[in-house]
Amino acid sequence: MKRSQSSSICIRNFRIQLLVFAICFLVTRSSALKIGETCSDKCDAGLSCQTCPANGNTRPRCCRTQPTSPTSKVKGLPFNRYSWLTTHNSYALAGARSATGSFIVAPMNQDDTVADQLKNGVRGFMLDMYDFMNDIWLCHSAQGKCYNFTAFQPAINVLKDMKSFLDANPSEIITIIIEDYVSSPQGLTKVFKNSGLSNYMFPLSRMPKNGQDWPTVDDMVQKNQRVLVFTSKRDKEASEGIAYQWTYMVENQYGDDGMKNGSCPNRAESPAMNTKSRSLVLMNYFPSTPNRSAACADNSAPLVSMMKTCYAASGNRWPNFIAIDYYMRSDGGGAPEAVDEANGHLTCGCDNIAYCKANAKFGTCDVPPIPPPPPATVAPSTSNQQPQNNSASKVACNDRTTKLMQLVVLTLATMTSLWLF
Ligand SMILES: *[C@@H]1O[C@H](CO)[C@@H](O)[C@H](O)[C@H]1NC(C)=O
Ligand SMILES: *[C@@H]1O[C@H](CO)[C@@H](O)[C@H](O)[C@H]1NC(C)=O
Ligand SMILES: *[C@@H]1O[C@H](CO)[C@@H](O)[C@H](O)[C@H]1NC(C)=O
Ligand SMILES: *[C@@H]1O[C@H](CO)[C@@H](O)[C@H](O)[C@H]1NC(C)=O
Repeated sequence: MKRSQSSSICIRNFRIQLLVFAICFLVTRSSALKIGETCSDKCDAGLSCQTCPANGNTRPRCCRTQPTSPTSKVKGLPFNRYSWLTTHNSYALAGARSATGSFIVAPMNQDDTVADQLKNGVRGFMLDMYDFMNDIWLCHSAQGKCYNFTAFQPAINVLKDMKSFLDANPSEIITIIIEDYVSSPQGLTKVFKNSGLSNYMFPLSRMPKNGQDWPTVDDMVQKNQRVLVFTSKRDKEASEGIAYQWTYMVENQYGDDGMKNGSCPNRAESPAMNTKSRSLVLMNYFPSTPNRSAACADNSAPLVSMMKTCYAASGNRWPNFIAIDYYMRSDGGGAPEAVDEANGHLTCGCDNIAYCKANAKFGTCDVPPIPPPPPATVAPSTSNQQPQNNSASKVACNDRTTKLMQLVVLTLATMTSLWLF
């Protein structure tokens, strides 16, 4: 009697243990591949499997494609206290065909559509707008004139995608920075109105002109003023009430001249970087000719390094907009890491938004919950051209062995617990 009772308790305990084991293995198996891990195809959400030969990195590994939401840790700050991932020529989709039906003969700067960029957390969009075929088009052209072979698509398509996103995400804010070649009267006003996006526009009258803080993101959300629009044409302020970019923002040199390590000069149209009467700071970091294979390297360590240079040049201000080509291309943390670092500094006084502590004093930081991404390059051990060859295959192999063992134990554990019940 006594004996059988104790043995049944024993069996019950055993079953529970097995269940716990089974659950544990299920959990570890489903959290597939993290940043830096060798991959063949799939990675966790917010990551993609890629190599970066430009950095000597030929081992496919999981790299970030999404920043942490800037407002996820410290909420309700003024708009200029956040940094936003921004795409340069957001519309210039690699491999796209012109909506005119023509082939496109123009540089391309991004790997996915604006709609997909929005899903990945891009919140700043640089758009080149032209008068074309009795409408406003997104065009990558020269001398202010658009052609079939440089025209991507009518601007209204992309503006409608943005409107749908804002409809579906009532606390998101986006910024549009227009390189403006439109001279048709009220051309911009019409296209924003027809897209429905003008309902969300942040009014010019509320934009601070002397370096004051912007309204808080909460205020902008509450009033549903969730689209900031800036134009490169000064007279549009008077004629259409659209903000002239450099009255509100400083911006560094774009293209090759903006990629020289250790210096961050302003672009010609912008006041000096340290002009404090402009409360927004935009950092460009992309070459004069877009280079998809170099982008993974550019968007990694050099981007963060330039951000620090620009911080100092801007009178100790972190960039509010970080504008790059091929934003998903990276060699680990990429542009999302740069944005996370800027948001750490801006919102909580820590080196990364991941270290921000809830409801804590500015500058109170948590120990990193996850280690920072692995370095962009592996230091070459010898003159060997392929230093990762051995270690890479070993890592991949270890990954596979672990997976296999997990699967075997999981199967055994499940079978045993079924049999016991
Ligand atoms: C440009 O595309 C439009 C629309 O497809 C077409 O009607 C027009 O003929 C094209 N122009 C040239 C110069 O090919
Ligand atoms: C693009 O970048 C790659 C890798 O850095 C380089 O080898 C190549 O020359 C670059 N192409 C151009 C057109 O600059
Ligand atoms: C830029 O220069 C600094 C030293 O001035 C150096 O430490 C850093 O690695 C350089 N960054 C890049 C990306 O070359
Ligand atoms: C790995 O390196 C060895 C020499 O260290 C070489 O013989 C081999 O071909 C390399 N394998 C690959 C796949 O590059």
